[in-house]
Amino acid sequence: MTVPNRSASRRAAKPYSRMVTIGDATLYQGDAYEILHTLGWFDVLVMDPPYVIDMSGGGKFRADRKHFSEIEEEELDRGFDYSIINALMCGAVVVFCHNNQVPELSTFLNGSFERFTICAWHKSNPMPVANKSYQPDTEFYIHAWNRDFAVAGELADKKRHITTAVGKSDFDHPTVKPDAVMAKIITNVGGRSICDPFMGTGSTGVAAIMAGKRFVGIEKNPKHFATAVERLTAAHAEAERLAAEQEAA
Ligand SMILES: C[S@@+](CC[C@H](N)C(=O)[O-])C[C@H]1O[C@@H](n2cnc3c(N)ncnc32)[C@H](O)[C@@H]1O
Repeated sequence: MTVPNRSASRRAAKPYSRMVTIGDATLYQGDAYEILHTLGWFDVLVMDPPYVIDMSGGGKFRADRKHFSEIEEEELDRGFDYSIINALMCGAVVVFCHNNQVPELSTFLNGSFERFTICAWHKSNPMPVANKSYQPDTEFYIHAWNRDFAVAGELADKKRHITTAVGKSDFDHPTVKPDAVMAKIITNVGGRSICDPFMGTGSTGVAAIMAGKRFVGIEKNPKHFATAVERLTAAHAEAERLAAEQEAA
């Protein structure tokens, strides 16, 4: 009779292919749907998941819009599964979405958390098109929270909108969020531990590190994961430099 090697069969495979620690931040390369639920509680989930977008159209301008093709190639136009937001495992959530998703996502978040608000990033330099609708000058994000994780910041920080330009990204990713937008969001979330399960190039992580928060990021694309590691390493060094400067003053 062969005795099965129980310790080996019990050892579950890790759900991620890489884990990198940078100061108070931990980054996982892999599928957020397999990883997030193994990590336990986070005070806040801040996420910019794939939107639901109709990428057809664009007419004669289409050729100039390289990021449209990249969004399609990387399947960032197919939405996300709401089950990744478990209101029993976090105190609050911030979710970016396309304006067409606002009604459905609001209903879901309003039903899962005690409070919620729709906020907006106004782009000061939107694409100069309007076709049969409005200019693409606003992106929405929904902030939903439970009592102990209410909106943070001073009165002046608590506006529901921020206006800033769409930056020219050096990070080879079609949908990088500007530092100013992410810094505002991190100022407004209550709590100390932040997780971004759709981390991309690490924009949430940079803002979290600069604000002295604990950060966990998940990204499945190895190229974007590597960019996030670079960006967060630089942010960590900058945060340490500023802290040393402050201590010396
Ligand atoms: C809209 S982008 C986020 C961009 C990010 N906010 C930034 O500023 O760089 C969404 C990211 O989620 C990643 N992603 C999509 N599905 C994923 C999954 N199941 N697990 C982990 N990452 C995923 C994509 O590769 C993409 O980089």
